[in-house]
Amino acid sequence: MPPTPDNCTLVIFGAHSDLAARKLFPSLYELALWGHLPDEYRIIGVGRATLSHKEFREKVREKMVALFPETMQDEAAFCSFSARLFYVGVDFARREEYYALHKEVMEGAPELSTNANLLFYLATPPDLAPVIVRNLGHVGLGEKDSLPGNWRKIVVEKPYGSNLQTARELNRVIGNVFHEERIFRIDHYLGKETVQNIMVFRFSNGIFEPLWNRHNIANVAITIAEEFGIRDRGAFYEGAGLLRDIMQNHALQLLASIAMEPPVDFSAEAVRDEKAKLLRSIRPFTPRSVDGAVVLGQYEGYCAEKNVDPDSKVETFAAIKFFVDNWRWKDVPFFVKAGKSLAETVTEIVITFKCPPQNYFGTAESCCYTANQVILRIQPEETIAIKFGAKRPGEALITDPVFMKFDYKTSFSEVGMTPYHRLLLDAMAGDQMNFIRQDSVEYSWAIIDAIRESVGTQSLASYPVHSWGPQSVQALYS
Ligand code: BG6
Repeated sequence: MPPTPDNCTLVIFGAHSDLAARKLFPSLYELALWGHLPDEYRIIGVGRATLSHKEFREKVREKMVALFPETMQDEAAFCSFSARLFYVGVDFARREEYYALHKEVMEGAPELSTNANLLFYLATPPDLAPVIVRNLGHVGLGEKDSLPGNWRKIVVEKPYGSNLQTARELNRVIGNVFHEERIFRIDHYLGKETVQNIMVFRFSNGIFEPLWNRHNIANVAITIAEEFGIRDRGAFYEGAGLLRDIMQNHALQLLASIAMEPPVDFSAEAVRDEKAKLLRSIRPFTPRSVDGAVVLGQYEGYCAEKNVDPDSKVETFAAIKFFVDNWRWKDVPFFVKAGKSLAETVTEIVITFKCPPQNYFGTAESCCYTANQVILRIQPEETIAIKFGAKRPGEALITDPVFMKFDYKTSFSEVGMTPYHRLLLDAMAGDQMNFIRQDSVEYSWAIIDAIRESVGTQSLASYPVHSWGPQSVQALYS
């Protein structure tokens, strides 16, 4: 059982957002149903519309019924949850309107003693984060106004800035109102069971530890592929592109987890120290080194999507050959590929080991064919497979690849929490292990900015929908 957090008030900015409807309210409701929320809690939705508490509760209920009818069977349970929902209408840019929020936080629902601990959640477009945080500070809702023994924290959704400069500025603005220990930069990938298992797999199994380095590993390939396109997020994608949407955060975090050094202990700071160190060791790209190491693509038909510029040069695919310039990984390529409208929806990490020094059982090709691999499938299946060579039955000594497989579904009966269940609880409980620290955000942006600047827009290759990306990707692996 995770520890039950202190009594608190959650304030969700962007209460009408898709994220709030699909992830935040359903997760909070389920956490309440499972008894993981504190005895006394309340949730204040903040949005631009003017609504009463009652109208807001009804809106949340309607959306949940439409999206998750199966979790909405128990009317009484939902009523007791929705009695904890409140609403304040605020124009985010107008400072004076935050006083109404202050009043609701401090004086609303006096029968609940929740106003001493506050968790702010920014489920808003990234450009609104600085203005919201400044205004919170201005009206006395920042951390410095907290009473001793109580806490005020903030969860900030990705993308965290849009480049190194804006991320630094955002860090500076938030840092004026909340201390780093109270800032929770969320990347929902870090809440996935299979992502958390990467460190457990690496650091609790003695058989892999001696092999996890450049002496034994030929390459590492990380894939985050999605069969679907940008859906109805044309406006967002035009401002972001895949490098900012997925590479800067989810992909680099997977890379950091698979390649980081063992931490001195399993505290949030020790783990985050190692991740930051790893990100800092990634070899920076230059206009010369992107050649043959970076392929950006756009799926056919992207420019005809809603809210997309017909001449858009925004990438929906990226394949990058990274190198990590440290003692452990020198010269081992990390192939990282992510894209929209690809052949399949799958996230996986494949670690390919070097072939044995002598190849007794066939040609060089057959050695590659049976090269040992550890395949960590993050989703949709949650499996780990180990690939090795075995003798094909019969007279001849021919090696065939075979697999040993672990599957979460069949090995454990417990149902895991979703990333948002877990990360909401972690934020309330104050555990920062699975949130991104300021330095890592900045190292990641430095990597992505250098790629974007070095590549320019000329080399965008188009690829057919439901393929594995542009043809030119093959050259990266050679
Ligand atoms: C989000 C990106 O952060 O992650 C989306 O903005 C992407 O573009 C999504 O589709 C992928 O998340 P998941 O958990 O479905 O792999």
